[in-house]
Amino acid sequence: MKTNIEVAVIGGGIIGCSIAYYLSQAKVDVVLFEEQQIASKTTSAAAGMLGAHSELDEVQTFYSFALKSQLAYQSLQDEIKNISGIDIERKQGGIFQLVYSNQEKETLSSLLSLPTVEWYGAEDVSNHIPSVSPNIIGAAYIKDDVNVLPTSVCRGFAKSAQVLGASILDYTKVLDIKKENNGYTLYTTNGKFQAQYVVIANGVWSSTFLKKLGLNHTLIPVKGECLSVSSNSVPLKHTLFHKQSYIVPRNNGQLVIGATMVKDDWNIQPSIDGIESVISKAKSMLPEVSDMKIESFWAGLRPQTFDGKPFIGQHPEDSHLLFATGHYRNGILLAPATGQMIRNLILQQKVPEDWIEAFKINRKKHSLV
Ligand code: FAD
Ligand code: GLY
Repeated sequence: MKTNIEVAVIGGGIIGCSIAYYLSQAKVDVVLFEEQQIASKTTSAAAGMLGAHSELDEVQTFYSFALKSQLAYQSLQDEIKNISGIDIERKQGGIFQLVYSNQEKETLSSLLSLPTVEWYGAEDVSNHIPSVSPNIIGAAYIKDDVNVLPTSVCRGFAKSAQVLGASILDYTKVLDIKKENNGYTLYTTNGKFQAQYVVIANGVWSSTFLKKLGLNHTLIPVKGECLSVSSNSVPLKHTLFHKQSYIVPRNNGQLVIGATMVKDDWNIQPSIDGIESVISKAKSMLPEVSDMKIESFWAGLRPQTFDGKPFIGQHPEDSHLLFATGHYRNGILLAPATGQMIRNLILQQKVPEDWIEAFKINRKKHSLV
């Protein structure tokens, strides 16, 4: 086993695997360390919406980064399929963001002013989705907010990276990182490795390394509970979304219904109350959910930073130490742009200055309201 490497990536979720993919595509020597299996933690819990519009609370830097990432998925679908044989199941159809009152419509005015977002009255919505709630006054239709299958994207990135020369070490936990011998030594459950660059991308578990590396930040888990259901009736073609609740159609006809937002809960077992609340919200969007059969339910831990935006960039005092963590509600959407940004930082290629400023780990602290 090779123990002297150029870049060590810690974490085999969608963020770490995207980084490994883009670096190996640029012929950089990468080893990725994953404590368990690839795509086994938060990534496996995600619904897979590429919600550049539906998830946004502002139309600023974050939006340009999210759009770039959403766009990257268009070519990734074929790229990953050709290299790894894995289908990421990018599903067209977009999102109907349902609106129940004029007051609610007003809160969406900046979203509705975007050229890619269209207003549909209630009748138009029900022409597309006959079983939609009769209580809506309309919906913002966002055709570009399509969805993908998160575990397939993650495994597709990992397998493609491997084909391109990266080593993917699953069941290998990184226990400690020390600056030694002009680089970093990684102490793992499978021995010691020497790396020139280290990328911390282990999601909500990154806090230990951030503290160890002198950065006073904590990733907060925000638990999301979901379930999947199947229906014998006509399958839904579009995602329905309302105030962080959603019903996402998969290619196999199943619907993913999510999700709760339970702050500071590390337990990944869904609770009765949590599942009950997502079912109730789903019924208020699509009453016919009541007749559907439950396939499975689960929960995952969204990694949240103090302001809800990710940390992507270099350590303030050491450009060979990088962070890509805290992707909160949007790790699937942001994975391609994050992988490309980390690659460009390591290869000293151009990265827009406003992205560096927006995502740097030592940005000014202010809490989420
Ligand atoms: P993870 O997937 O958790 O990966 C981190 C990996 O690091 C894990 O595999 C872990 O085992 C490994 N690890 C930890 N410590 C170590 C160590 N010491 N050594 C080695 N490996 C280690 N985002 C979207 O964009 N669209 C959605 O529709 C969406 N829906 C969601 C729905 C739910 C219910 C939830 C919970 C999240 C959703 N998200 C969504 C958010 C998205 O899932 C996350 O932002 C994303 O998965 C985070 O990816 P990650 O790679 O940072 O973390
Ligand atoms: N982005 C959807 C979720 O985090 O639940």
